[in-house]
Amino acid sequence: MRHLLSINDLTPESAREFLTTAAELERVSEGQMKKLPTLRGRTVVNLFFEDSTRTRISFESAAKRLSADVINFSAKGSSVSKGESLKDTAQTLQAMGADGVIIRHSASGAAQKLADSGWISASVINAGDGTHEHPTQALLDAFTIAQEFDRDSFDLSGLTIAIVGDILHSRVARSNVLLLKKLGASIILVAPPTLLPVAVDGWGVRVEFDLDEVIEICDVVMTLRIQHERMADSYFPSLAEYSRGYGLDDARLARMKAGAAILHPGPMNRGVEISSSAADSPRSLVLQQVRNGVFVRMAVLYHLLGGAHETHQISHSRIGEKS
Ligand code: NCD
Repeated sequence: MRHLLSINDLTPESAREFLTTAAELERVSEGQMKKLPTLRGRTVVNLFFEDSTRTRISFESAAKRLSADVINFSAKGSSVSKGESLKDTAQTLQAMGADGVIIRHSASGAAQKLADSGWISASVINAGDGTHEHPTQALLDAFTIAQEFDRDSFDLSGLTIAIVGDILHSRVARSNVLLLKKLGASIILVAPPTLLPVAVDGWGVRVEFDLDEVIEICDVVMTLRIQHERMADSYFPSLAEYSRGYGLDDARLARMKAGAAILHPGPMNRGVEISSSAADSPRSLVLQQVRNGVFVRMAVLYHLLGGAHETHQISHSRIGEKS
């Protein structure tokens, strides 16, 4: 596998392989060796056309822990704001010898376009393209859920996972639906009708308009930010009303079942989709998600750029091997 553009690039087996590598990398990182030599001499570019805090830092940290050289390119303040095209930017990165390009862009399909263009020979990793997909976020969410529920083999069957909020504009929701289903979980999407995609009927998930109907049966509640930057129109009467209907507030927090967990990809809007007490409660795995994000992205970089694809098989003993 050369690129990671969509969860559709992964079979259930390859998804589990990536997650197993992430678990192995977590174990290695807890030991003496914080930094592994796996990607020494490789160059990874963070090509971010949209704002980001945790995803960019997470990829940077993952690449550095594998000893890659990292170039951070943010479109703001770059030649892109002077009108440079994606093609010219890509060709510049090619000339600099990039082995991996991590791209975030406001246009759905941007990562695919870069991968298919022939402008670069690097592996392309989609770090969020418009409202389309964010595959590494889904992988880190699945990893976090598996860890919380002791599913060592990354089989999530029997777990009911609600994804709540602005599904329509969320690449996190799309990638998570694809991946969590592949791993066996049951998904409930909870949103007002205006924030659900028309095609949702074909997604093979349960759809609910009333969060109070399902809050007591969920093992995981994943809340999403309202993606105002992607809204050309108004999709609900007011934020306060949205929050009353779909926010994970203190009353709903109290009704969650024993052992149930809360996830949020960040950035959180406290008091809107999640209350402060829910965000800070022992049920909240938000910081666990951030921590696991680094291991999962290390695993993705390892599989795409490291030794794995040369040998056509994953040998975990190679991860710590000196190159
Ligand atoms: C998400 C994104 O950018 O799609 N955030 C993230 O990657 N951590 C979700 C969001 O911005 O709300």
